[in-house]
Amino acid sequence: MARRRPARPRPLPARSRPLPARFRPPPAWPRPLPPRSARWPWIALAVLPLSACSGSGQSTLTPYGDGARRVAGLWWLMFGISLFVTAVIVVLVLWAATRRRRPGVRARMDTGQRYVTITGIILPAIVLVLVYVISLPTLRAIGDPKDPDQLTIDVLGHQWWWEVSYPGSGVVTANEIHMPTGRTVHLRLRTADVNHSFWAPQLNVKTDLVAGRTNHLWLRTDRPGVYRGQCAEYCGLQHARMAFHVVAQPPAEFAAWLTGQARPAPAPPGGLAAQGLRVLESGSCASCHAVRGTTANGRIGPDLTHLASRRYLAAGTVPNTRGYLGGWISNSQTIKPGNRMPPQPLASEQLQALIAYLETLR
Ligand code: CUA
Repeated sequence: MARRRPARPRPLPARSRPLPARFRPPPAWPRPLPPRSARWPWIALAVLPLSACSGSGQSTLTPYGDGARRVAGLWWLMFGISLFVTAVIVVLVLWAATRRRRPGVRARMDTGQRYVTITGIILPAIVLVLVYVISLPTLRAIGDPKDPDQLTIDVLGHQWWWEVSYPGSGVVTANEIHMPTGRTVHLRLRTADVNHSFWAPQLNVKTDLVAGRTNHLWLRTDRPGVYRGQCAEYCGLQHARMAFHVVAQPPAEFAAWLTGQARPAPAPPGGLAAQGLRVLESGSCASCHAVRGTTANGRIGPDLTHLASRRYLAAGTVPNTRGYLGGWISNSQTIKPGNRMPPQPLASEQLQALIAYLETLR
């Protein structure tokens, strides 16, 4: 059989005209850098993501509570140690990478191994023990301060909201923990169902709410403000929407708040609000919710006695406004799917009346 000789590649025809710009290949790598003046906007833009690190109200690095301040201090110290260790490693790696081996000298494995044992096991062990010893005083400081003047508050975790009660005062509220500034607050943390975790990053460490036991956390801050907190232990479908707010107030303001919350719900002024109270007492609301001073005394959902005084609905999910309140009552499943509250098929005027009544619960 005759073998065919492979065709010889023909020379490409000489290009007579230059290609149009869109067909021309990109300039060779590395591309020339843009002029210095054009680089600044990009550098400035690159800094933007850093702004997300603060201002969210949930950064451990902007502490306002005594406990959080200690933890942040420890964090910065550990960050400094890590930076130092990283720098030493980078220098050693560069040193090893750039060292030329002298001709005729063979690497000695036994010295190398001794060196790795010392720097790879003994040095990290020393650093870890050092960090542990340094963190001991912080662990002690964030625990029970044994303050005889402390205020005790009970926090009960539910799927997916927080029940807050003030022992001895009869005050029960939800998702909003008011506390006086300049005074130690002792939180007794329990759960009604699965495990949750209480975490207000700007005030103190996170503490788990474990089924069948009571855990303790102490908060103290001198700065009035609203601090956002979050459930930090996965607890089911709406774990992400299980937030709360700690409202720190000057002592006199806190005392006034507590007195107001201890009062039963005010009687409706009449008209639409009075009709709303009848809807609440006769409908299904009363079997799950309590409004002190009325016949509604359900214990499944949040206490609504002073609902209108709260900032948010559904554990920080939506702001407490008329529109969201109406939407929540009609069908809360569209706002927070999986929550325990079934849709309420109320006639429009009944819903308007109910909202009008709930808005009087200040
Ligand atoms: Cu409760 Cu996550």
